Amino acid sequence: MTDRYLELANANFTKTIFDGLGLPTPVLLKRENQTNPHQLLGQVLVAGSEGASFTQGILKMLQASSVTMAEDNSCDSASLVFDASGIATAEQSSQLYEFFNQHLSSLPRSGRVVVVGHRPEALANTTHATLQRGLVGFVKSLAKEIGRKGATANLLYVDKGGKAAIEAPLRFLLSAGSAFMNAQVVNASKPVVKINGDWTKPLVGKSVVVTGAARGIGLAISQVLARDGAKVIGIDIPQAEAELASAMASINGLSLPLDITSDGACDVLVKFCLDHGNTLHSIVHNAGITRDKMLSRMTSVQWDLLMQVNLGAAQRINDALLATELLDNGGKIIGVASISGIAGNVGQTNYGFSKSAVIGMVDSLAKPLAKRGITINAVAPGFIETQMTAAIPFMTRQMGRRLSSLSQGGLPIDVAEVIGFFVSPQAAGINGNTVRVCGQSLLGA
Ligand code: NAI
Repeated sequence: MTDRYLELANANFTKTIFDGLGLPTPVLLKRENQTNPHQLLGQVLVAGSEGASFTQGILKMLQASSVTMAEDNSCDSASLVFDASGIATAEQSSQLYEFFNQHLSSLPRSGRVVVVGHRPEALANTTHATLQRGLVGFVKSLAKEIGRKGATANLLYVDKGGKAAIEAPLRFLLSAGSAFMNAQVVNASKPVVKINGDWTKPLVGKSVVVTGAARGIGLAISQVLARDGAKVIGIDIPQAEAELASAMASINGLSLPLDITSDGACDVLVKFCLDHGNTLHSIVHNAGITRDKMLSRMTSVQWDLLMQVNLGAAQRINDALLATELLDNGGKIIGVASISGIAGNVGQTNYGFSKSAVIGMVDSLAKPLAKRGITINAVAPGFIETQMTAAIPFMTRQMGRRLSSLSQGGLPIDVAEVIGFFVSPQAAGINGNTVRVCGQSLLGA
């Protein structure tokens, strides 16, 4: 599905008309170069507040990865990173103001802002924790100001023991892969296993399962994980067998036609994984359906079927995989929620419940799984251009697209790139996060 408004607003022959009429012109977002991904977007200007904990480490890691650092008075830095972790009083918050007041105008289209802070819950000093919590409102407001440039702002909170985990989220947030992730908080915690791996091909030699892989977001996830070196085991319903086979053939993956809600599906899945290796690096629970109806008119079949696909199957598959050691010591579980599970949506009580429960699954499993060296995280996509959203009536579709700070819908690859980051071995300190991939949709914000 293409967004004609976005195309026309950026086409040479119509752009001047849009400008003349004062119509909003969403920016064509810079996305990853698929043949050379994981590069940072140009120069980075890094600064920190007084008493900041992470600035030196950030400078070292960026210099070690040959990133050009901008001078303090440079006017062409693609990204601004401010370590605000030292801000512990209302007066000190002016350091945040001063940095961005001075440098924000130099931020280019598709630029990046990353603010780094201490996770408030990790601080014993209540005044310090109070000020660090303020960073959320700052970043969310800033994201709304710079969204018209196609630029994003995100907050990286560092938890106790999370210093070693900063590099992966920082690199991701400063790359084109995070194009549609805006105004989010990522928590970096103590890594559950030792961090190692290659930044350009992080998944070489690793097997991953993706459910609902025949089309849409699941296909994009499979393509991104294969690009990063993974052997993808794609699952979809038997009716989509041909589509699935051709999708997997194109990425040298393995295809497993299987209705994940059917009796014995978990046994089939676990056996397939064991037959193809001793370990499984990750499972991405992407398969999902909608059965929209006002609650008073919804049938029990519409409720039960949806709940089994979106939630029950994912839980059963987790249980079956966790009964083995396939995922231990570095494995990743990824849920696909939705902003409907955060904001709610008319006619989607069933869907909203299931997607909120996916977030609950992440919240409740993160701690126990960490003990086995496994992480669990989820994405909550907003409006993404797929067959599912193409079926939405025209006006509602337009509203869905424009109601975000970036004034456009996302693409399946935007969700896939965030999952690629979660799945990378370097993200061993990213656990228990649910990140919206919605361009800062106003819904539920
Ligand atoms: P889609 O309908 O294009 O693809 C879903 C895939 O899951 C299909 O290939 C389907 O055959 C497969 N599937 C359904 N039931 C299955 C079962 N019982 N066993 C195995 N495979 C099954 O959907 P889309 O848009 O790609 O969505 C993917 C995920 O993202 C879903 O979980 C959806 O809820 C979520 N999402 C999508 C958004 C969007 O804007 N498209 C927004 C928020 C969340």
